[in-house]
Amino acid sequence: AAPARLYHDHVMDHYENPRNVGKLDSAANDVGTAIVGAPACGDVMKLQVRIEDGKVVDAKFKTFGCGSAIASSSVATEWIIGKSVDDCLGIKNTDIAQHLKLPPVKLHCSMLAEDAIKAAIKDAQSKSEAAAGAEATAT
Ligand code: FES
Ligand code: FES
Repeated sequence: AAPARLYHDHVMDHYENPRNVGKLDSAANDVGTAIVGAPACGDVMKLQVRIEDGKVVDAKFKTFGCGSAIASSSVATEWIIGKSVDDCLGIKNTDIAQHLKLPPVKLHCSMLAEDAIKAAIKDAQSKSEAAAGAEATAT
């Protein structure tokens, strides 16, 4: 059926045209950065998120890894931009794997994306808390 095929093409498109490749200003207080590695293969994913009012407003990634890891990062950025931090933390690697129809041997590639989302958000939160603390002691 036509819709199923369009859906499939859209997913495949993440392999060929990854979204949100690049970087954010890692010095900014509202930007969290995560660099996570996959022990299984040594591939590395860098994900950055900008958080405003409890919501991810921007995300960029660079993945030095396989096609499935790149596609997983791309889907992850599409899913988290515009979502609340809580919703982002609820994203599971199995959701991404299912979306991309990854075979079992490639499950760890989507795990990188889940780990990266959690770590980037955690980094942004601890940075903004530190900044708020510094402001409080300055006044
Ligand atoms: Fe882009 Fe679904 S195909 S996130
Ligand atoms: Fe390791 Fe894909 S093969 S991240």
